[in-house]
Amino acid sequence: MTWRVPLSDVNLDSAEIDAVVAVLRSGWLTMGSITQAFEQEFAAFTGSKHALAITNGTAALHLACLALGLGPGDEVILPSLTFVASANAIRYTGATPVFADIESTDWLCLSPEAVRSAITPQTKAIMVVHYAGYPCDMPAILEIARQHHLAVIEDAAHAVGAALEGKALSTWGDVGCFSFFGNKNLTTAEGGMLLTQDDQLAEKLQRLRSHGMTTLTWDRARGHASTYDVVALGYNYRIDDLRSALGRVQLQKIPAGNARRESAVRLYRELLVAQTPEVAIPFAQARGQSSYHIMPVLLPEGSDKLRFIEAMKARGIQVSWHYPPVHTFSIYQRNSIPRVEDLKITEEVSAREVTLPLYPTISDEQIAWVVQAVKESLSCA
Ligand SMILES: Cc1ncc(COP(=O)(O)O)c(C=O)c1O
Repeated sequence: MTWRVPLSDVNLDSAEIDAVVAVLRSGWLTMGSITQAFEQEFAAFTGSKHALAITNGTAALHLACLALGLGPGDEVILPSLTFVASANAIRYTGATPVFADIESTDWLCLSPEAVRSAITPQTKAIMVVHYAGYPCDMPAILEIARQHHLAVIEDAAHAVGAALEGKALSTWGDVGCFSFFGNKNLTTAEGGMLLTQDDQLAEKLQRLRSHGMTTLTWDRARGHASTYDVVALGYNYRIDDLRSALGRVQLQKIPAGNARRESAVRLYRELLVAQTPEVAIPFAQARGQSSYHIMPVLLPEGSDKLRFIEAMKARGIQVSWHYPPVHTFSIYQRNSIPRVEDLKITEEVSAREVTLPLYPTISDEQIAWVVQAVKESLSCA
């Protein structure tokens, strides 16, 4: 289907094509000098001590959980209003996800108070999700973690270029995880990045990423090592230099791309307030610097969301739903594996939330079409 306005769009040009072709011509395709350069540039961009490029965001979350020693019997508190990968990564280790509520219908991030009330003697970690690229209340989360000796994982899949108090998201907790999937602010098609400030964790993550081996093919090709030991049950979660080359070009586009996303969100707010005042627009308060990954709005209570989505589709506008809460999926209801706390705000937000199109190349005219379509579609919902 050809959309008049798609939900998201990539921002690729000859710079990415040239960078990928240069890797092909170089004859070294796997994790080598281009990946090292991508990691160094990403570390500099975020002010992080360590940055490790990885296959995808889910693998990043999985390794974060493993490196922090999570396993059977441990509980990890996280929001249910997230992509299922956040919770799955916890379960891969045998640990139990414990879903806690979000702050409010305005700030759709994990509530520090809800975290506090979900803590048990089995709790070992908190996984925050910077929903849509807006910062969680990291000072409050870190204070709880300090008091209860808990690790903190940041799912920053939405948050490339976002910060709180001038400090990049994903550098607040023990390990931060980015996704570079095709719809993200920075894409490498599939890909991700792990950040940590801790040397020992960085070493563990590095080994777990590549079969638990002590040296890489790249080290041996450069003559830096001639053999290796295997010291952990690792995975093949490596990225390749084609993706890293894409990532380096995409990283340079983040400041301008995120700035355009911000001005697009400002225009959406102006037009929605004027034309559809019954639609609520979350993240009204000022807290940190968002990456404006997506544009969530809340339909009036009692609206028929699926009819609204169909009416938008009939007008050529692609919208989405971030997210059906993880605790409602069949696999998460079965066997009552996860403990579910009080999730009233999550359930209300999820029932009303619709995500409008947002990407750096969206035009002001397209935003005006979307808002007009919202106005018309509300009457069908
Ligand atoms: C919040 C969140 N967490 C984790 C992921 C997983 O990332 P990936 O698709 O790169 O594995 C995504 C990607 O969509 C996401 O949005």
